[in-house]
Amino acid sequence: MSVKFLKSVFSPEDLPSDGLPEIALVGRSNVGKSSLINALAERKELARTSSTPGKTQCLNYYLFDNFYLVDMPGYGYARASKSSRFQWIGLIERYFESRKELRATGILVDARHIGLENDVTLMKWFSEQGHPWFIVLTKIDKVKQQDIAAHEKYLKQEFEGVAAVFKTCSKDGKGVRALLAFIKESVAAPRGATSD
Ligand code: GTP
Ligand code: MG
Repeated sequence: MSVKFLKSVFSPEDLPSDGLPEIALVGRSNVGKSSLINALAERKELARTSSTPGKTQCLNYYLFDNFYLVDMPGYGYARASKSSRFQWIGLIERYFESRKELRATGILVDARHIGLENDVTLMKWFSEQGHPWFIVLTKIDKVKQQDIAAHEKYLKQEFEGVAAVFKTCSKDGKGVRALLAFIKESVAAPRGATSD
């Protein structure tokens, strides 16, 4: 698969207008969004990863053959100001409510930290939207197998609208193939086909 970084989008006018379907990835700062994109692309340094959370403040578009993966700005960074937190909500609400090209959204959750307030708020919001969404547990190399199984069960029970829960590790690539297969399927489906 050929993958390339297209551009960073700072305002709605800069969103691509070629109509290609897209999949958005959201999650807390430092959850591993950029690392996951690199793992999906099988490229080491396509998306910039960092140990300084809260770096990505724009939408980063990556072209995967025939669709875009969109790396959304991370939220929940403790040092971010209240106004920047509102800005985050404003930007993503607008994007999720109006972006016609969007086929599904992946919410990334650190497998070590299940049930954090920000994550739960976002997952509840998605549950109410009726727009297709899925969960990607990240950093499963840091968590015991049995805990991961318990987390998965909890998430599926708590958020009935979730299309799937993936368990991934960007370091060794675990779960990444299954996720990519799901993404390709979502992209091929007409918009709204997988929602209620
Ligand atoms: P922001 O862009 O700041 O929102 O962060 P991000 O969500 O893009 O996270 P990023 O991919 O930059 O990863 C943050 C840190 O987590 C880095 O130090 C990564 O090396 C580490 N990390 C990411 N994925 C994994 C994983 O699967 N396992 C382990 N052990 N560490 C990971
Ligand atoms: Mg990032």
